[in-house]
Amino acid sequence: MNTISIMLNNIGTFLPSLLPEGVKIRRIESKDLSTVKMLADSRLNEDYSTDLFRFFFENHNGCFLVAEDSYAVIGFVIGIPLDARTLRIVMLAVDDRISGMGLGSSLMDASREYAKDRMMTSIVLEVRAKNDMAFEFYSKRGFKVTGMIPNYYNDKSDAFVMKRFLEM
Ligand SMILES: CC(C)(COP(=O)(O)OP(=O)(O)OC[C@H]1O[C@@H](n2cnc3c(N)ncnc32)[C@H](O)[C@@H]1OP(=O)(O)O)[C@@H](O)C(=O)NCCC(=O)NCCS
Repeated sequence: MNTISIMLNNIGTFLPSLLPEGVKIRRIESKDLSTVKMLADSRLNEDYSTDLFRFFFENHNGCFLVAEDSYAVIGFVIGIPLDARTLRIVMLAVDDRISGMGLGSSLMDASREYAKDRMMTSIVLEVRAKNDMAFEFYSKRGFKVTGMIPNYYNDKSDAFVMKRFLEM
């Protein structure tokens, strides 16, 4: 692990973060869509369509970020504005071969910087109520439960709604 800068293409934002060596975070490009879909299929227990990823790419690509090493895309996050002050994290996933090495944290850091650059004041997300690892991950990063949505996922699992206010 070493300290490097993450560059979010085209928006001129740099932030220091701890990332596995050789990994960078950048904005999604159309060539990444199939790998992102594969990552989502393998990590998110949902059957999201290719069209859904294309929709986010075409309409909300500001905070549609991918992490890549020298070979491939190994993680991604999709954040969309819920309103002018709130960024909603729609999906976050990291290749399980690199899980636990800080990449999820770096993707969340990049999303937070994106939101702060736009004067947003909070981030919200939904997390599967039974996804203990992700729940713990978000809780440790300052997210608090603000609600619960029954039968939110395709398999009828409930979701917790979590929110974190951003320090200015
Ligand atoms: C949730 C997720 C994005 C986190 O990404 P990550 O790169 O593993 O996250 P990090 O390495 O930054 O942090 C993981 C935390 O779990 C801990 N951890 C320990 N062993 C671990 C393991 N085998 N795998 C993952 N995390 C582990 C890490 O130490 C770290 O703890 P910390 O908060 O005390 O630092 C990733 O696990 C993932 O893709 N999960 C499947 C998809 C998912 O659940 N997404 C969220 C849906 S809302």
